[in-house]
Amino acid sequence: MKISRLPLPLCLAAAVIFSGHAHGATGAQLSPTNPSPAASTSAPPALYLGTAWYPEQWPESRWNTDLDLMEAAHIRFVRIGEFAWSRLEPSEGQYHLDWMFRAIRAAERHHIAVVIGTPSAAPPAWLTSKYPETLRVKQDGRLDQHGNRQQFNWADPKYRQLVYAMDLQEARRFGHDPNVIGWQIDNEYAALSYGPIARAQFQNWLHARYQNLDNLNTRWTTAYWSQTYTAWSQVPIETNYGNPGLLLSWKRFASDTWRSYQWNQLSALRPNISHQQFITTNMMGFFDGYDAYTVTRDLDRASWDDYVGTGQLDPVYNGAEHDLTRGFLRKNFWVMETQPGFVNWSPDNNSLDKGEVRAMAWHDIGHGADAVSYWQWRSALNGQEEYHGTLLGADGTPVPLYSEVAQVGREFAQAGPALAGTTVHSQVAILHSYESYWAIDWQRHNKAFNPIATMVSYYGAIRSLAHSVDIVSPDVDLSQYKLVIAPALNLITDKQAANLISYVHNGGHLVLTQRSGMKNIDNGLQTERQPGPLVPLLGGRVEQYYALDSTIPVSGVWGSGDTHVWAELLSTSSPDTHVLMRYGKTPLGWLNDQPAAITRKVGQGSITYIGADLEGSTLNNAASWMMQEAGVHPEFGTLPAGVDLYIRSDARHEVWILINFGQATQTVNLPSAFQNLLSSGSQHSVTLKRLDVAVLQRPIP
Ligand code: GAL
Repeated sequence: MKISRLPLPLCLAAAVIFSGHAHGATGAQLSPTNPSPAASTSAPPALYLGTAWYPEQWPESRWNTDLDLMEAAHIRFVRIGEFAWSRLEPSEGQYHLDWMFRAIRAAERHHIAVVIGTPSAAPPAWLTSKYPETLRVKQDGRLDQHGNRQQFNWADPKYRQLVYAMDLQEARRFGHDPNVIGWQIDNEYAALSYGPIARAQFQNWLHARYQNLDNLNTRWTTAYWSQTYTAWSQVPIETNYGNPGLLLSWKRFASDTWRSYQWNQLSALRPNISHQQFITTNMMGFFDGYDAYTVTRDLDRASWDDYVGTGQLDPVYNGAEHDLTRGFLRKNFWVMETQPGFVNWSPDNNSLDKGEVRAMAWHDIGHGADAVSYWQWRSALNGQEEYHGTLLGADGTPVPLYSEVAQVGREFAQAGPALAGTTVHSQVAILHSYESYWAIDWQRHNKAFNPIATMVSYYGAIRSLAHSVDIVSPDVDLSQYKLVIAPALNLITDKQAANLISYVHNGGHLVLTQRSGMKNIDNGLQTERQPGPLVPLLGGRVEQYYALDSTIPVSGVWGSGDTHVWAELLSTSSPDTHVLMRYGKTPLGWLNDQPAAITRKVGQGSITYIGADLEGSTLNNAASWMMQEAGVHPEFGTLPAGVDLYIRSDARHEVWILINFGQATQTVNLPSAFQNLLSSGSQHSVTLKRLDVAVLQRPIP
């Protein structure tokens, strides 16, 4: 889901006798404690193709037909149950899990594993009418109501208690089920509550963080506009034009509260499930409602829901979202939901082109996904999402896209063994900080300054040269990277500053861009000019920033171009800090001939600051310069226009995935002989039509 997509598309006890069935049904007596051995006998695939299946919406007599069709498409897992609370607990304390057990067994007979979604994103009507305090209070002060989803209050203790009890039942019943491979907690955490419960917790949270009001008042400079607090209970919730310290604290509180909301469910699951079952939750790309690094920290696996919405796949923007997700836990991830052609929640719900869904699936794998799952298998016959893309039509038979997805499934089975255990290895990292993103977004100063767009522009330029890029938090150990780019790292905590400084002292190459190092941990101004605590290391600083209403030329070692949105006047204070780019003359006057980008070598490392917008050739030249300075030598040079390369490897071999997103047919000459994993044979070049994919393997050279 993209940021623009907000708000959400609101986006036996006794033995069971199975009837005879084409897929190895034995008619044997099975019980919850004695499930069928089928799952344990079929090896788990390296790449999982999946779909979201809602057995509770259909008569059981239909299930096998669905599962037959899934199996024929090489679907290897289903996610079930994440909105099924009213079927799992039809009235308080009455748990009905047998149907789910039967669905898991039916899937198992088709060699389809199961991920169970805990149902907390959609509480049943009896619950919210009996315990209205569990309903969230919307920002306008009104109570949400039953009829949509995500109507719960994520901070409410009673809600957590009811969710815990529900999860416990599921965990005890399915925690050691051999056909259950994992759990998804809730579904797309997003909606907050702004009522008295959340507000009191926020105030307690502030108390714990700031210890005393003097400290809070000082750090938020509440003397400004008479905002001084004399009791914790006076502190309001602000989400838009409030004190920057207050705004940031609310986001941190929201993130911590999602983490504790999730922890409540983890404590129902973890002690009761096998360690072979993973626990994840489905995140949403650049969704910025909370700090995803905080929220994913306690999970086994990161996953996300990858939707294009309107238009076609933008491989750069979408690739950045994949790399962001891979960076949450710094390992491979799952695409838990993706669109079967089109969605229903966009202004224009156009379909992806023929072949684009397949290209998108391989794009996911190239970025480190080990599973791709389509939302959803078949539309419910009523409900809010009747128009959404599916793999079956309302008549229960395949739609045209089904065969393309089946092809993906075939290919995953073919290429999977070579991709098993491989991941993306990057020499370059881009830093992403939710706190910096929020800090800028609350005070853009120029409405055209979009911090995500800034980050993605650097990401795109560097990815096209390096072919692999990690996106990580500024809090992680950066020593594995030769080059670290921090686009618009507006807020730098003392710990982060120390991390960056030691990275450079240890030979790393750090590039900071516009607006970096302006704010401190409380979203207050640093008492040094930008980049704040990094000024001494840089031997230079930002004398002044300018939001632009007209274009300013820039030129220097990266060629000539224009800056449109933002310009920072830089200065050098150290003799070994060099000017790389300067502004040209304009009526604004202040920037005439002044430094626009500066750099300084520090031992084996370096620090560079870029104060101008870079785009087109200046951005590409800057990216090549960075690669050269940092000694990043990609395995492959320039690719033909429109073609992208993704490399996954392990100690044995490399797998190259080439996808042509351009219009023209292109040929890529490979540096050595590669084995084609989707056809057969060895080859030195591949020719790709639009949206064609090649998956190639070679031993580590
Ligand atoms: C996701 C959500 C799914 C479904 C899908 C439609 O945000 O998790 O339940 O609504 O959107 O695109």
